[in-house]
Amino acid sequence: MKNSSPILSKSLQDTERIAREFAENLFTTLWKDRGEAVIIQLQGDLGSGKTTFVQAVAKAFGIRNTVTSPTFVLEKIYIIPPENSKEGGFQQLIHIDAYRLADKADLSSIGWERIIKESKNIIFIEWPERVDGAFPEKTAKISFRFIDENTRELTFY
Ligand SMILES: Nc1ncnc2c1ncn2[C@@H]1O[C@H](COP(=O)(O)OP(=O)(O)OP(=O)(O)O)[C@@H](O)[C@H]1O
Ligand SMILES: [Mg+2]
Repeated sequence: MKNSSPILSKSLQDTERIAREFAENLFTTLWKDRGEAVIIQLQGDLGSGKTTFVQAVAKAFGIRNTVTSPTFVLEKIYIIPPENSKEGGFQQLIHIDAYRLADKADLSSIGWERIIKESKNIIFIEWPERVDGAFPEKTAKISFRFIDENTRELTFY
């Protein structure tokens, strides 16, 4: 998924498969020798599938808790079962929704500068455009687009 060609998901099952492949990729090549957290910005309109994708990634990491939208709580932290961290060394999946934030200063309440430095963290953030300038150079992006009721287009950058 290094290129940025769009992928069509025609069902929730498709999205789960795409998320599984994405998670497997993280364990191996892309972020193996990182010294900091993996940060994935999720861009796209309301209802385009950002939270659904994080739920599917959480499932792929063997997280059994129900993953719900963090819109009202800003941040949710899920522990990745040790048997699933594999060579990626991931221990925590952090799900942030910046929809209600005014700017990047609002991230200080969750210790943003600290959590992005810890390589055990994999951080997904919805509405990253709300907190412009908060991201280090090394960050991944996925954009989501509503096509029709059951179809979404995902583009990985
Ligand atoms: N192929 C698909 N992949 C993912 N979600 C789909 C698909 N088809 C339909 N959906 C539905 O689209 C909705 C996506 O909602 P979701 O909460 O994930 O959006 P969101 O991008 O997080 O929105 P918000 O910006 O409001 O947080 C869900 O109700 C999901 O069931
Ligand atoms: Mg959402």
